[in-house]
Amino acid sequence: MEQVIPLRKKRIAFLASGRGSNFQAVIDAIASGEIPGIGVGLITDNPRAYAIERAEHGGIPVRVIDYADFASKAAYEEALLAAMRDFQADLFVLAGYMRILGSDIVREFSGRMINIHPALLPAFPGLHAQRQAIEYGVKVAGCTVHLVDDGTDTGPIVIQRCVPVLEDDDETALAERILAEEHRALPLAVKLFCEDRLIVEGRRVRIRP
Ligand code: GAR
Repeated sequence: MEQVIPLRKKRIAFLASGRGSNFQAVIDAIASGEIPGIGVGLITDNPRAYAIERAEHGGIPVRVIDYADFASKAAYEEALLAAMRDFQADLFVLAGYMRILGSDIVREFSGRMINIHPALLPAFPGLHAQRQAIEYGVKVAGCTVHLVDDGTDTGPIVIQRCVPVLEDDDETALAERILAEEHRALPLAVKLFCEDRLIVEGRRVRIRP
């Protein structure tokens, strides 16, 4: 008889800088049992991030590492790396984390750190992706979940979802439409990771059925 070995629940930690709606989407999916994981912590660089309240409400420990408290980026990154190690996470989810991670962190957590970006990468990396899309005049926009590598929004792509750009869209309207898709894409990517279904082959990420 075939033996089914239950998956060990993955430990998931989050980095977020602001509103935290993507963070909320993932912790909701954990709470509903959709994602076989445990939210073990939130790290934020912004003491005013609304994500902090969301974490407290969800019973998830918070570490605030206020960028303003550090004399240099290197000192901030050292504290961030220490906090990340403390959580002993299997997966780190960058959910609206608005800083570029240093190479020490990227190297240490390579293959187990994912980011959500509000554009169809490789188009429009970096800041204000939705504004870049409007200004460029594209007809289709969307979001990308990708593994984090040394570049800015360049890592192997896990999931993309698209939305139309409508005639009278401004940045806000487009961002809202994309955000609804982000809230589907990010929990799905986390779920696939936690189910050991992502196979990374160079730049390509295959999803095991
Ligand atoms: C989201 O649209 C996310 O894709 C974007 O910031 C927003 C955060 O919203 N991230 C980036 O632009 C990263 N380069 P949230 O705090 O409500 O999840």
